[in-house]
Amino acid sequence: MRVLGIETTCDETAAAIVELRPDGTGAILADEIISQIAAHAAYGGVVPEIAARAHVEFLDSLITRAFVNAGLKPHQIDGVAAAAGPGLIGGVLVGLMAGKGFALATNKPFIAVNHLEAHALVARLGARVAFPYMLLLVSGGHTQILAVRGVGDYQRLGATMDDAIGEAFDKVAKFLGLPYPGGPALEAAARDGDPQRFALPRPMVGKPNADFSLSGLKTATRLAAERAAPLTQRDVADLCASFQAAVVDVIVDRMRVALGRFQGAAGIARAFVIAGGVASNGAIREALARFSAQVGVPLVAPPPRLCTDNGAMIAWAGIERLRLGPVDDLAAPARPRWPLDVTAAPALNGKA
Ligand code: KG4
Ligand code: ZN
Repeated sequence: MRVLGIETTCDETAAAIVELRPDGTGAILADEIISQIAAHAAYGGVVPEIAARAHVEFLDSLITRAFVNAGLKPHQIDGVAAAAGPGLIGGVLVGLMAGKGFALATNKPFIAVNHLEAHALVARLGARVAFPYMLLLVSGGHTQILAVRGVGDYQRLGATMDDAIGEAFDKVAKFLGLPYPGGPALEAAARDGDPQRFALPRPMVGKPNADFSLSGLKTATRLAAERAAPLTQRDVADLCASFQAAVVDVIVDRMRVALGRFQGAAGIARAFVIAGGVASNGAIREALARFSAQVGVPLVAPPPRLCTDNGAMIAWAGIERLRLGPVDDLAAPARPRWPLDVTAAPALNGKA
């Protein structure tokens, strides 16, 4: 089984072809991506209209390239998957319409993929990860911990009440004068910094629910920066290291609390899985590896390329759905909001 996956929900235009292996994992036959970082850098964030136009401009040639690089003809696939949300609606529509058109023209099944489900399942592309597992999904738009009981079966154990972690990294990086996108730049700057120089708060640590709050930490970092101004390169490095250390402590504490709640939701956790752009952060990965060893639950951390937005994860989510049976029809709508756990209260920050 081979599926074409299309991703256009944010600022990456991506198309990939993934094949199901006999052992249940996936082989990536082609994985094409064009990052729009340069187009948005001048604005310090993603501009939805620019993103949508860029998707229109590049998507067709990316899909063509995916088939060329995979050595396949369009009819040699078994399904077409496109991210139908959540995300920036203009971009979502571009990918969704392209996917539907391709499915119609080739007469193949169409799968409208939830972008968050694709992040949640991509660990199973590269490794044999059994359900149920506990997922930390941390990106620019989302911060949540989920019990993943099966394909399409999620229970939210905790979520952010304000900023997503990636958003907090980006905002702190911005007021420290680091280049866009801020997350990787902040991590790089933190490498030479002293994580103990600035005493920053650890919001929510010790609280019995598994939720997050980042805005107070972000403000405390800004106030510390203002007190230390004018900032030398050393000050910036120390602020980055102190901020990142606080985020790491918060994440580990929230994971510990969520693990306590996991059993009631899904039984014994077979693994911890991390996903989303922030999951490529080395300090966070190391801390979670230590935590995982401590509690005896293996950590599955997909390679950074599969953690940030990509087409392979959409194709893989398509395979996971397609192999279970009937999928979507061409009436599937674009969805700016699309929570994975439909029973959970709407996220307090208004995001999925
Ligand atoms: O999943 P993603 O590519 O896009 C969505 O938001 O869906 O995540 C992008 C986010 C950005 O906020 C970016 O700054 C953050 O992930 N990020 C990082 C790192 N790499 C990307 N944050 C911290 N450390 C990193 N190394
Ligand atoms: Zn994403």
